[in-house]
Amino acid sequence: MNYKFGNLDYKINRYPVSTNKSLIAWNSADELILNYIDENKISASNLIIYNDRFGFLASFLSDFSPSVIVDSKSQEMAIALNLELNDIDSQNFRFYNPLDKLTTPIEFALIKIPKSMELFRLYLEQLAEVLDENSLVICGFMTKYFTSQILEIAKEYFYSVEQSLAVKKSRLLILKKAKSNKNKTKIIEVKLNDNVNLKQYPGVFSSKNIDYATQFLIEHINLRENDSKIMDLASGNGVLAYVIKVKNQNCEIHLVDDSFLSIESAKLNISGENIHFHYTDNLNELNKKYFDFIISNPPFHFEHETNIEIALSLFEESIKCLKEDGHLQLVANKHLNYKTHLSKIFNNVVIKAENEKFIIYDCFF
Ligand SMILES: C[S@@+](CC[C@H](N)C(=O)[O-])C[C@H]1O[C@@H](n2cnc3c(N)ncnc32)[C@H](O)[C@@H]1O
Repeated sequence: MNYKFGNLDYKINRYPVSTNKSLIAWNSADELILNYIDENKISASNLIIYNDRFGFLASFLSDFSPSVIVDSKSQEMAIALNLELNDIDSQNFRFYNPLDKLTTPIEFALIKIPKSMELFRLYLEQLAEVLDENSLVICGFMTKYFTSQILEIAKEYFYSVEQSLAVKKSRLLILKKAKSNKNKTKIIEVKLNDNVNLKQYPGVFSSKNIDYATQFLIEHINLRENDSKIMDLASGNGVLAYVIKVKNQNCEIHLVDDSFLSIESAKLNISGENIHFHYTDNLNELNKKYFDFIISNPPFHFEHETNIEIALSLFEESIKCLKEDGHLQLVANKHLNYKTHLSKIFNNVVIKAENEKFIIYDCFF
């Protein structure tokens, strides 16, 4: 879909593509950010951009040669595709992850405020290392997602925190006069049982407790005696892989996740010669007809969006990775009604367990 700003007219697409035409690759908070920069004639020799999901800001602000913080493989793909689509040279960009130590002083930063407040704090923590009292940080958000925590966190890092007026249901937070607030702890502990706490970085799925759907799946894992090559699909902090490893130390386990911080968290929880990590948003590079067992609590929330298309395409890719006597076991919210979809991919879809909220499917060829 095209968007015009000044004399720039760019096509910005979503990756992965969605059949839901109401989902587009930017929102009015992105537009508000561009207008603010234009109206205030902001120029800066270095700009850093956070949480630019599909590369809308990176594309329109490419003249700033920005640094971009990338949280996920799909974001990296989306930005690369949109830069290419609009003939923007990616050589002028620098890409970092949210755990990288930044070293170049930053004059100007843009943040699309994420749903996870922990992740917002992690962004500010990373930035705090390279801001000085003259740096300007502009955050954009949709007013319906405003929480008072946004202001509380911003005030931990800045003396001056101002809000703009709302335009098209979005607003800006203008942060100035950075405090020298450094060295906060980044790792969160989540209780698995009386003896084990799992670790994870901020922004990783379910940081208060092991997710209830995951707990239900753990109670019903169907790890068969000969299941030795295992995939933890959409692994998050690696909790399912961890539980499987405890059941059978000899399993070869592959953990797959689109989120950088998830894969890095899983590395804190599970290791060994037979453990492999895949930072990817699809299964194209994983071995075909190789796995005995794929286990998953698949994604269906993406920030504030709900979308089952990604899970469905992961299920379609899963069957290619399974041996003919292999199986995919997954947990899902009942209302998602995956049975119809799974039955189009697998010949035999068994309901292994269900409670008032969740359902566990075991899928065979
Ligand atoms: C519901 S969480 C489950 C996490 C973990 N397995 C658990 O049970 O706590 C779903 C996970 O899917 C990941 N994810 C989202 N899109 C993905 C994709 N295209 N490929 C692989 N993982 C993806 C998210 O980063 C998130 O960690």
